Amino acid sequence: MIVTTAQLFKHAYGKYAVGAYNINNAEQAMGLFKGCIQSQAPFIIQISKGARKYTDKRMLEAIIRSAAEIFPDCIFAVHLDHGDEETCYDCIDSGFYSSVMIDASHDPFDQNVAITKRVTDRAHAKGISVEAELGMLGGVEEDIKVDEGHAMLTNPAEAQDFVKKTGCDSLACAIGTSHGAFKFKGKQSLHFDVLTKIKALLPGFPLVMHGSSSVPKEEVDRINAAGGKIAGSMGVDPNEYLPAAKLGVTKVNIDTDGRLVWTRVHREFFRDKPGEFDFRPPGKIFIEEYAKFIASRNKLLGSENQLADLKKSLGK
Ligand code: G3H
Ligand code: 13P
Ligand code: ZN
Repeated sequence: MIVTTAQLFKHAYGKYAVGAYNINNAEQAMGLFKGCIQSQAPFIIQISKGARKYTDKRMLEAIIRSAAEIFPDCIFAVHLDHGDEETCYDCIDSGFYSSVMIDASHDPFDQNVAITKRVTDRAHAKGISVEAELGMLGGVEEDIKVDEGHAMLTNPAEAQDFVKKTGCDSLACAIGTSHGAFKFKGKQSLHFDVLTKIKALLPGFPLVMHGSSSVPKEEVDRINAAGGKIAGSMGVDPNEYLPAAKLGVTKVNIDTDGRLVWTRVHREFFRDKPGEFDFRPPGKIFIEEYAKFIASRNKLLGSENQLADLKKSLGK
């Protein structure tokens, strides 16, 4: 069942974080829905601009609608990840998305405010909620590379002002994470001090953590043992998800980790079966392994076993 992002946030706020997982194809969708049923967790499906180009936005919508029929007990929202203004409007007008993210975080503050406000006004007119971003994550974001030294943490007072001026519904904050597999060079830790200050100024307001993949060492080691060359990777400590959730982080974005599962499964499969060329056997393994991974993340996010109570609170 597709619900609004706002409904998921209302149930989760301060107690647990909703896992927001990116998908690009049917195998990822199957693994995601299976994993969320196994762990009885609500979730958010994220679709990036890149995914809308790769699989075609119509194909992705059809995959998601079919998955909802195959897994009727799943409760989830559909979200545009890192949208520009034009893509936000396309998603708002499509009637399919529960929420959109307008990412104008690379623009100066006033411009970010103006763009976010335009998108928010148009989204709210259709009952859709808006995630915005303030501060800059390190790492690679589609076309833009922000190097670690220039990553700017979110300023709590600015965050309060930004939310007031734009009317956005949730805010992606830069608290030390970055996209991709190489998040930290030295110490691995979230900036809980910044988070605590933001929560004090914006009580009850859902915060979003991007760049939340944990980049498990065992996963990277297996990829490298099967011919990969990934060096110096490091992710977020997944035991920090729940403490962050208690400080208002209501949505935790995970994409890279799913790509690592895919790469490990396929590298190992073709290494061990060099004569094989049918993509379905490794595809089946991937779906099962991805489902297991998703269930493990939902447990760490605290969203595991929340489905029954959520259903009750939605009157279903
Ligand atoms: O933040 C970016 C997400 O991981 C989506 O990645 O733009 O390569 O689809 P993508
Ligand atoms: P990761 O690269 O850590 O998976 O982050 C994904 C993300 O933030 C999507 O918006
Ligand atoms: Zn992101």
